[in-house]
Amino acid sequence: MTTLLTVNPEHLETADAKRAIALAGDILKNGGLVAFPTETVYGLGGNAFDPHASEKIYAAKGRPSDNPLIVHIAEMDDLERVAAEIPEEARLLAESFWPGPLTMILKKRPELPDETTGGLSTVAVRFPSHPVAQAVIAAGGGFIAAPSANASGRPSPTLASHCAEDLDGRVDLILDGGPVGIGVESSIVDLTEERPVILRPGYITGAMLKRILGDVDTDPAILPREGPEDASFRPKAPGMKYRHYAPRGTMTLVEGDDDEVAAYICDRAKEAQEAGRRVAVIASAETASRYGELPVYLAGRRQVPDEVARNLFRILRQCDEDRAEEIYAETFHEGELSAAIMNRMEKASGHRIVRVPSGYRDNRKEHEYDNSIGE
Ligand code: TXA
Ligand code: MG
Repeated sequence: MTTLLTVNPEHLETADAKRAIALAGDILKNGGLVAFPTETVYGLGGNAFDPHASEKIYAAKGRPSDNPLIVHIAEMDDLERVAAEIPEEARLLAESFWPGPLTMILKKRPELPDETTGGLSTVAVRFPSHPVAQAVIAAGGGFIAAPSANASGRPSPTLASHCAEDLDGRVDLILDGGPVGIGVESSIVDLTEERPVILRPGYITGAMLKRILGDVDTDPAILPREGPEDASFRPKAPGMKYRHYAPRGTMTLVEGDDDEVAAYICDRAKEAQEAGRRVAVIASAETASRYGELPVYLAGRRQVPDEVARNLFRILRQCDEDRAEEIYAETFHEGELSAAIMNRMEKASGHRIVRVPSGYRDNRKEHEYDNSIGE
């Protein structure tokens, strides 16, 4: 049975909030699972030092057990209890971005069970800034393994109701702390190689990391590309290789000039509707009005990428709820956060990307457009 309790992050001093956090702590210390809000997405927590708790996390999510979990801490000094070596770069990044949406990969201490780290010799560590997350981690003993609290393959949860949709009956407690602030998962930077490498783009951008570290590489397997996943892309973060964030319908990203993109999407969506398929259009606030009667899912203002990041997973889930079969999405390349946004959108679409040629609108009457790219 899953208990659902509401905790207002701004009022952790109330008796109700204290009771909820104490219950979460008891469950975690006894090997149980608790879903809780963080500033990025909701996490599915278990005691990181308890191998059985980690096994339960994999089972609850239906996640392959070679995909390691992030260990969450709530005290700077606790880093030393999970990481065997703490290079200078790690200290600098912790000073700048912790608590916050940054995960660091470091050599692990032997006490940390293999079940938690997917058998790797390294550990992913994060110190979240969300007050409920911090309270839960502290109450649960200080070391909480937590992947995103979605069923494996589905979009990450940005609301407690998303956790309930995916995990009801599979976790002991869900703490509802309201909508998350960021909406995409933490940036992951690997500090176990000669040079730091970004394994997953997030709210802490490459430019922000470079300001602290000087040079930073990006795992080539996560760079933008087209076409289906294949064996040549073996990302170092094992989780980045799985189909992810994916809505149940077929999602196509449409690139190009705004007017051409809207014309192309209108044409394809109407064709799909005529063929009896349910369609969805993911569009920015600035361009939404170009789609007439088509069902538009608003990602947010193009000029405010934070909004797009915050809304993305919720609207992908909404597409599922509305049983959309063909999803056409604009792309979002504005601002530094676009790397994180487009990484999730590309994965959600299975890298199915169409580039609308300029002049599409003028030629559409005469030519059948070849939309085979990215299939
Ligand atoms: O924002 C976040 O990071 C959220 C919240 C709950 O904190 N958590 C999250 O966890 O996104 P998860 O499990 O969904 O994603 C963790 C990613 C996976 O791609 C995993 O493969 C990678 O981190 N990872 C974990 N440990 C690793 C390690 N030792 N080396 C390389 N990648 C690792
Ligand atoms: Mg995840």
